[in-house]
Amino acid sequence: MSLVHSCQYSPEQRPILQLGSPGLRQIAQPIAAIGDPKIQQLVDDLLFTLRVANGVGIAAPQVGAACRLLVVASRPNLRYPEAPQMDPTALINPRWVAHGDERVKGWEGCLSVPGLRAQVPRYREIEVEYCDRQGRTQRQVWTGFVARIFQHEYDHLEGRMLLDRVDGPADIISESEYFAQIVGR
Ligand code: NI
Repeated sequence: MSLVHSCQYSPEQRPILQLGSPGLRQIAQPIAAIGDPKIQQLVDDLLFTLRVANGVGIAAPQVGAACRLLVVASRPNLRYPEAPQMDPTALINPRWVAHGDERVKGWEGCLSVPGLRAQVPRYREIEVEYCDRQGRTQRQVWTGFVARIFQHEYDHLEGRMLLDRVDGPADIISESEYFAQIVGR
């Protein structure tokens, strides 16, 4: 497999599909040729689009590309001051290897569902395997917030949204109420 360097491409900001778009409900297909310039461009575009949007994760279906690629990019912010700082990581053809028994509820937002926050139960600890953008197989154990981001983004590959996962309507609130009630208290 040939190595493709990301600096060959200039990243572009892509429009993010919004809740209700059929593209968000598709099952994403595995990526066969990781070295394909179109895939490398998509990786760069996702990283760039995520940074501009100030998000901590994004999945290819959110920009209308129905393929199994997502980015996890945790960093400390107002909502999650304890969130670990990590290099933004692109995961190609990710899969779950294992998860712990414990599930915990935590607040999430989604770039495809602006203005809302939802409390979503997720596994506290997961082990995942994926290909990096050079085509190398990688394995990671993630806990807490980073594990949560992965599970949220992985759902996008399966056509699932965070609102599908909530226990009930009381776990969905507006962003302004979230900042007033949850962050501000
Ligand atoms: Ni999302």
